[in-house]
Amino acid sequence: MTTPPTTPPAAAAHPDLLQRLHATVGDAGLVLDAEAQAPYLQDWLGKWHGRTPVVVRPSSTEQTAAVMAICHETHTPVVTQGGNTGMSGGATPDGSGAQVVLSMVRMNAIRHVDPMNNSLTVEAGVLLANVHAAAAEIDRFFPLSLGSEGSCTVGGNLATNAGGIAVLRYGNTRDLVLGIEAVLPDGRIWNGLRALRKDNTGYDLRHLFIGSEGTLGVITAAVLKLYPRPVARATAWIGAASLEALVALLARLRSHCGERLVAFEMMSQASLDLVLAHVTATRAPLAGQHAFHALVELADTRADGLAELLEEGLGAALEDGLVQDVAVCTNASQATAFWKLREGISQAQVRAGKAIKHDIALPISAIAGFVAQADAALQALQPDVRIVNFGHLGDGNLHYNVLQPADTPYAEMTEKTALLNRTVHDLVHAIGGSISAEHGIGQLRRDELPLYKPALEFELMMRIKQALDPNQIMNPGKLL
Ligand code: FAD
Ligand code: MLT
Ligand code: ZN
Repeated sequence: MTTPPTTPPAAAAHPDLLQRLHATVGDAGLVLDAEAQAPYLQDWLGKWHGRTPVVVRPSSTEQTAAVMAICHETHTPVVTQGGNTGMSGGATPDGSGAQVVLSMVRMNAIRHVDPMNNSLTVEAGVLLANVHAAAAEIDRFFPLSLGSEGSCTVGGNLATNAGGIAVLRYGNTRDLVLGIEAVLPDGRIWNGLRALRKDNTGYDLRHLFIGSEGTLGVITAAVLKLYPRPVARATAWIGAASLEALVALLARLRSHCGERLVAFEMMSQASLDLVLAHVTATRAPLAGQHAFHALVELADTRADGLAELLEEGLGAALEDGLVQDVAVCTNASQATAFWKLREGISQAQVRAGKAIKHDIALPISAIAGFVAQADAALQALQPDVRIVNFGHLGDGNLHYNVLQPADTPYAEMTEKTALLNRTVHDLVHAIGGSISAEHGIGQLRRDELPLYKPALEFELMMRIKQALDPNQIMNPGKLL
């Protein structure tokens, strides 16, 4: 039987820890003041809170390596943090006050731009939006696109293997990385910053760090893949009577539009209503109500014919009665307004109450059946249940959330959450799905993971963890 790794004894109080860290990163690299530390100690959802003896902000790979060597030697636990926008509590320290927060935001240099190789080498603390800007400057495109792109970092994107709205066309973060540089838990620097599209020289270690959620080492830089920059976009909003109809529409548009189909996002009427009620300056995209809505986007490096292609595909779907209503954008500001509705769902949920979030992946063909079963199961448990179902339908990724009133007492919330999680995740597991599509495990799903991962897979993960981090200092209490 595999036993979980144990958290080392609290050693953050090591007598000369702060002095040694100060000697390494200087005044600018340490945050000791309680008020200044506060933003690092709570997550974006306001769900997790922690304590720390110090926030360390290195400005180079060498400083990060020196910090890690000190922490390794003193058995000091380390929680690496990027933009702190994660949805699974992975970047928040625990309440012991022993875990050092290692913030990567000062490592924000763009190291190398290579238009002929279609690659960009950036440090871990660079904001995703700044990667987009750097790529655009050389007439290239970096496709990872998230609602949080103005505040999340490349390091966090890699560590969570982030998904977002363009996975359908370009894949998730794992597919967009050529090489990485990482500092191991003992302070050694692994330079894997290769800018190659082919490299069969043994185990591909970069993929161990991508999606490792700060449990194996600190990602300090990455070589990212760039793409030709689309110059034209065509965007449409669709109303449909069922999820089956949207799944059929997705298949049709993939055949009809090929690689030009970049995004196929879905939201239920209840999700849309939440945004209209809680996000300012929003209005309904269609005249009537529809059980499910889709936001679809095509993009191309040539402008001609793109809108017509979309209109043709959607026109046929309307004529056949597959969908109920369609609005194709005629200008960029309308498209921006449509995307605001989609991207406002996270914020609307926070304003509307306490969301029990489920970030699940399913075979696309099984989605409609799953939702019918899960809706019925949740209604049986809680007749007035409020389901906020939206997500990246094109990737088979649903955010199948359950909203509770903001004033639900903590004890009731905990009890309900466990029961709802088990009900939803057992169904997901039964049809071969995943309990985390893109947000990672963090502390949110840590205790559920062993229920759904094959025991052998779990054991191999533990062995890898033990090999790389023998002192168990990297993000204890998360993932494993
Ligand atoms: P953090 O939150 O700081 O950290 C996340 C995890 O990565 C933690 O476990 C942390 O320890 C680890 N980590 C961070 N930096 C490093 C590093 N340099 N080395 C090693 N480990 C590190 N996510 C999606 O996938 N798809 C979406 O569509 C999406 N939309 C979002 C919309 C909103 C409004 C918000 C608030 C969040 C959204 N997210 C989405 C979640 C989040 O933005 C992503 O998970 C993002 O990749 C996290 O990046 P970050 O820099 O904020 O990481
Ligand atoms: C999204 O797709 O909007 C994000 O993953 C964020 C969320 O689930 O709230
Ligand atoms: Zn998402």
